[in-house]
Amino acid sequence: MKKYIKTACDKNIGILTLNRPEVLNALNREMAEEIVSALEHFDQDDSVRVIVITGSGKAFAAGADISEMVNDDAISLELLNQFAVWDRISLIKKPVLAAVHGFALGGGFELALSCDLIFASEQVQLGFPEIKLGVMPGAGGTQRLTKSMGKAKALEWLWTGDTMGAKEALQYGVINRIIPEEVLLDETLGFAEKLTKQAPLSLRLIKEAVNKAVDTSIYEGMQFERKNFYLLFSSLDQKEGMQAFLEKRLPKFEGR
Ligand code: CAA
Repeated sequence: MKKYIKTACDKNIGILTLNRPEVLNALNREMAEEIVSALEHFDQDDSVRVIVITGSGKAFAAGADISEMVNDDAISLELLNQFAVWDRISLIKKPVLAAVHGFALGGGFELALSCDLIFASEQVQLGFPEIKLGVMPGAGGTQRLTKSMGKAKALEWLWTGDTMGAKEALQYGVINRIIPEEVLLDETLGFAEKLTKQAPLSLRLIKEAVNKAVDTSIYEGMQFERKNFYLLFSSLDQKEGMQAFLEKRLPKFEGR
């Protein structure tokens, strides 16, 4: 039984709902551990092919829980290393989609940015207000925002702490789509369902190769991509996918 999140599985989609609406899903330490453990659980569960994260109430998440951090000092934080928990999200192999509405601030924005795709509502407000608290993002925000929008733009948002609307976020490539709030979750689940029909091993190795592209030189990235391409030819799904094409029928992928 989870205290701060809800999980469900439907049509091969693992759905994780942040569920602390009374404080706009502010992420305390226990909640962060629940989120990451649930993602790892979905990643290991053969009935789940794609994961969707959403928030209950008015917001996706308004950041790390300030009331929990207010009395911290540098040494207590170093010893606790509380943000290290988020590193484990990079190890999730299945596609992770975020359906983001309302506020996604600080750690909430970092959580969304650590997902593979972000679908956002028209009224979304994304940002890093940490500078207004006299601190800075500490769970990947400076790195992920810079990788997604480039140095100059990222610095502008990080330095001002202003919130970014859906149109700006789409324009800078920070989010994938803008969707009316009333159908945001349904449409995200619809897209996720489309992915559940794809060959699971291909989804997994494409994600791994694309992530490599973000972090390595083109040459190294291409070697990595080629190795994954070759590797897929030892899967049953490659035989099935190509055979199905030649037989003019739909493939039946099993993730093997
Ligand atoms: N931590 C703890 N509690 C929070 C919170 C947070 N990050 N964000 C909101 N809450 C609480 C509020 O204290 C309030 O609780 P009470 O009802 O008990 O007073 C409740 O959620 C509702 O919030 P508001 O009344 O403030 O709602 P609003 O609609 O007027 O304003 C808001 C919304 C602009 C998002 C405002 O809540 C806000 O500025 N929140 C803080 C945002 C922030 O600074 N986030 C960064 C945190 S630091 C971080 O995330 C570090 C990192 O890199 C991981």
